[in-house]
Amino acid sequence: MEFMLDSLNLDAIKTWKQFIPLAGVTSNPTITRMEGGKPFFQHIRQVRDLVGDSVPIHVQVIAQDYQGILADAARIRQECGLSTYIKVPTTKEGLAAIQSLKNDGYFVTATAIYTAIQGLLAIEAGADYLAPYFNRMENLDIDPEMVIHQLWQVIEREKKSCKIVAASFKNLAQVSRAIAAGAQAVTVSPDLLEAGLAHPSIAKAVDDFAKDWEATYQRTSLD
Ligand code: E4P
Repeated sequence: MEFMLDSLNLDAIKTWKQFIPLAGVTSNPTITRMEGGKPFFQHIRQVRDLVGDSVPIHVQVIAQDYQGILADAARIRQECGLSTYIKVPTTKEGLAAIQSLKNDGYFVTATAIYTAIQGLLAIEAGADYLAPYFNRMENLDIDPEMVIHQLWQVIEREKKSCKIVAASFKNLAQVSRAIAAGAQAVTVSPDLLEAGLAHPSIAKAVDDFAKDWEATYQRTSLD
């Protein structure tokens, strides 16, 4: 199982890399917009400095046509390093580009997946990760668990090395459901991670244990 952070916020990345085994940082133009238009590649290099060389960063292309996607991918790889995952929307042009990029040794994340057929074609095109958009699928009455499970079954049956990184979460139940359905990875916003650990019952349980220890031994430490 892999947990990635769906954010380019430097403070959030600094915070969460201390607390979770961070398997990646994912971005898209909307996530980038939240950082207020700072020079993009400079910002990605700051993220790289924060997470170190072993944590993959997934950076999305802007172009929508085949040649443009290849050009964007080359620029991203040149600016952000060989280990960067190129996020390519799973369109017709995107699928053609994924095949070329894989032939050229790129790491590729097929993104904007709403349907099983997109995922199946991206597997066959050679994508390293598939990013189904869980909440957006639910908004459209598409069953994300069924799609994730179908993709997972094909990956297992065909012994593909491709992984599913489920994305677009608006609540924690969706995250658990994606993992249960077969997603090997999830990318989650800092706000959702915070919500998952901020439940008052958690803090109360920890406080109650501390009080009981102190009442028993009249000290707050083990020895
Ligand atoms: C992954 O990086 C996806 O682009 C992202 O999770 C999409 O999330 P959204 O549906 O909130 O835009």
